[in-house]
Amino acid sequence: MLFSARRLFVPTLTASLLLPGVSFAEDAKSRAGTALDALQVWYNTTSGLWDTVGWWNGANCMTTIADLAALDPSVMKTADFVFNNTFLNAPSSNPNPGPETRTNTKRDGLLPRTNYAGNSSDWLDSAYDDDGWWALAWIAAYDVTEENSYLNLAEGIFASLADTWGTRCGNGGIYWSTSSSYINAITNELFLSIAAHLANRVPSRKEFYVSWAQKEWNWFAAQGFIAANHTINDGLTDSCENNAQTVWSYNQGVVLGGLVELNKAAPNSSYLESANKIAKAAIETLADTSGVIHESCEPDNCQPDATVFKGVFIRNLQMLQSVSPRDIYKKTINDCANSIWKNDRNSENELGVVWSGPVVSTVDPSTQSSAMDALVAAIAV
Ligand SMILES: *[C@@H]1O[C@H](CO)[C@@H](O)[C@H](O)[C@H]1NC(C)=O
Ligand SMILES: *[C@@H]1O[C@H](CO)[C@@H](O)[C@H](O)[C@H]1NC(C)=O
Ligand SMILES: *[C@@H]1O[C@H](CO)[C@@H](O)[C@H](O)[C@H]1NC(C)=O
Ligand SMILES: *[C@@H]1O[C@H](CO)[C@@H](O)[C@H](O)[C@H]1NC(C)=O
Ligand SMILES: *[C@@H]1O[C@H](CO)[C@@H](O)[C@H](O)[C@H]1NC(C)=O
Repeated sequence: MLFSARRLFVPTLTASLLLPGVSFAEDAKSRAGTALDALQVWYNTTSGLWDTVGWWNGANCMTTIADLAALDPSVMKTADFVFNNTFLNAPSSNPNPGPETRTNTKRDGLLPRTNYAGNSSDWLDSAYDDDGWWALAWIAAYDVTEENSYLNLAEGIFASLADTWGTRCGNGGIYWSTSSSYINAITNELFLSIAAHLANRVPSRKEFYVSWAQKEWNWFAAQGFIAANHTINDGLTDSCENNAQTVWSYNQGVVLGGLVELNKAAPNSSYLESANKIAKAAIETLADTSGVIHESCEPDNCQPDATVFKGVFIRNLQMLQSVSPRDIYKKTINDCANSIWKNDRNSENELGVVWSGPVVSTVDPSTQSSAMDALVAAIAV
């Protein structure tokens, strides 16, 4: 994220009048900025979260804002305010802090709350994937602020997750939650992505994070998560096989960003080869004939979680596009962003779950931030 921000040429008004490509980028920025204003109507300064959606959705709203700030410095003031306020206040909104529901965890010594928001234990709840989303959110905030307390949080969250590394399938992997032995793709993709991101941001522990990222990826690729057609399903059965559950878009996404970062930290051509296979298979599986990505739960059964997934996919597809560009990725990002703006937006600039439109069912910060991820990605391509 930081890397694309630093590479980006920020055009002057004069340049934008002369270059059609640039004026399109300006247009993409103004769409994303408008969507941000609508998102912030839900931001609650007391809770540090976005009203009507839950804890982990907050991490994704924050990531979306950080990604926009990396491309558009004019939203930095809003972004800084959110990071700072959420850092201080969100821990008291953590719905499930502490050890009470932890049956299979090594975190039993954890105290319910500390008096210091910078203590990563306050950001853990009983779902390991929730922890992972917050780690990535704080890394995204670090990328645009260079605030070390944000990076420290991500490192602390990572350490707690690494403590839960298991042995049930293939002698590795992380469970979904403290009270479940389900091994799902998302939790492990998040772990890969956090480790790989940290490898590129904490020079003194680079080898440590590279080795965790490689350990997770080697393990992940050797399990049954990835089907013969390169799509990734939800998780493993009790006997450690592909459970043939839904091909959710976010499971085709988080792994891409993880592999992009891992390839940057410890280059190996197989990482981007794998990422490209997964990205292409995802687009083939999830895009409609107009190039717009869909979730199988649309339109009515995606709340409260799956409403976020497509944005996560596009956000990570853009990361892949930034290092391994393909026309089909650029087209997918633009098709989604253009369709959202044209077909899936109401008069309040609220964005719905069905990107081909029309705006249906609940519109909330999860549908908003997810669609906004596509608007943000369109700035960068
Ligand atoms: C904002 O968050 C506070 C603290 O969680 C809560 O009491 C309040 O109801 C929230 N406001 C709205 C409008 O939901
Ligand atoms: C948040 O803002 C307060 C007050 O301006 C400041 O003291 C504090 O250092 C900031 N914290 C972070 C993490 O930026
Ligand atoms: C963070 O909180 C944990 C448990 O609540 C505590 O054991 C630890 O000492 C705290 N760390 C810091 C640096 O305050
Ligand atoms: C590159 O990664 C692949 C897959 O993880 C591995 O089999 C191979 O040994 C690696 N190559 C090098 C040169 O490390
Ligand atoms: C790939 O396989 C998955 C599950 O096995 C299936 O849902 C998906 O439709 C397939 N994709 C294509 C492009 O055939």
